Amino acid sequence: MSVKPEGVEPAGGNRPKTTVLTLAEKKRRGEFITMLTAYDYPTARVVDEAGIDAILVGDSLAMVVLGHPNTLSVTMDEMLHHARAVSRGARRALLVGDMPFMSYQSDAAEAVRNAGRFLQAGMEAVKLEGGRAFAETARGIVRAGIPVQGHIGLTPQSVNALGGWRVQGRSAAAAKALVEDALGLEDAGCFSLVLESVPERLAAYITERLSIPTIGIGAGAGTSGQVLVIHDLLGLYDRFTPKFAKRYAELGAAMTEAVRAYRTEVEAGTFPTRDHSYAMPDEEWQAFLQTAGGRLPKRLPGRR
Ligand code: KIV
Repeated sequence: MSVKPEGVEPAGGNRPKTTVLTLAEKKRRGEFITMLTAYDYPTARVVDEAGIDAILVGDSLAMVVLGHPNTLSVTMDEMLHHARAVSRGARRALLVGDMPFMSYQSDAAEAVRNAGRFLQAGMEAVKLEGGRAFAETARGIVRAGIPVQGHIGLTPQSVNALGGWRVQGRSAAAAKALVEDALGLEDAGCFSLVLESVPERLAAYITERLSIPTIGIGAGAGTSGQVLVIHDLLGLYDRFTPKFAKRYAELGAAMTEAVRAYRTEVEAGTFPTRDHSYAMPDEEWQAFLQTAGGRLPKRLPGRR
């Protein structure tokens, strides 16, 4: 029997709160898991209300929101700022905070501390990039009671070491190393693994070998679920579009059109109209004119 924590209302209709156990259960039942990034309150609300299982406050924030060329320069404080906003907008989805570059690589104790800061900012789990080399770091965070999602394959924080944004695990040796990374992270207690930019058949193989769910991005249809960067899905980021990023809308173009329409109307004097303005009772206006002492602005609004 599950106990509903006080004050937690089901959101998105009658759907219950998603937890790491929900994701495990979905894999067991053969149901696909959905995950998307969000970085702010309104987007978190939309994603949550659309019934997505998990929201990742990804370090892709650095690129798609802050305009950096890669994910390396986003800081813990910046990530936490956005994590807090997302946690205010989402009620049902599992919330995962992405550990940014240098928040966990150098020191295991610091990794636990930083993971804890994500939970204090309203996240319910953290994600970190790296294979077996980070299994002990992940184990330490899990030991502190913080669920950890691993991330292997193309790990953007290692873009310089990998020689660019390249598909990983294409050779037999590289595929074997990725399987060992996956098993090492599962053994460390990770509740799930993100597989990024790996061949479809390898991702399906890893998914079969693991008992924890895999979430693919550029890893084909054989994983336990999918994640995308929401700006890619909505057509809001066109500086770099990976092959796997399917656009479901063109919101960037729609936003430009809306902003142009606003500019045109303001310049033409057709916005605002009476509908967008506040009225003042005539008698108050007349009384005001008496006190204005002839110092009226030259251009009073006419009737529109
Ligand atoms: O930061 C991010 O958005 C990610 C996803 C691409 C998995 O790590």
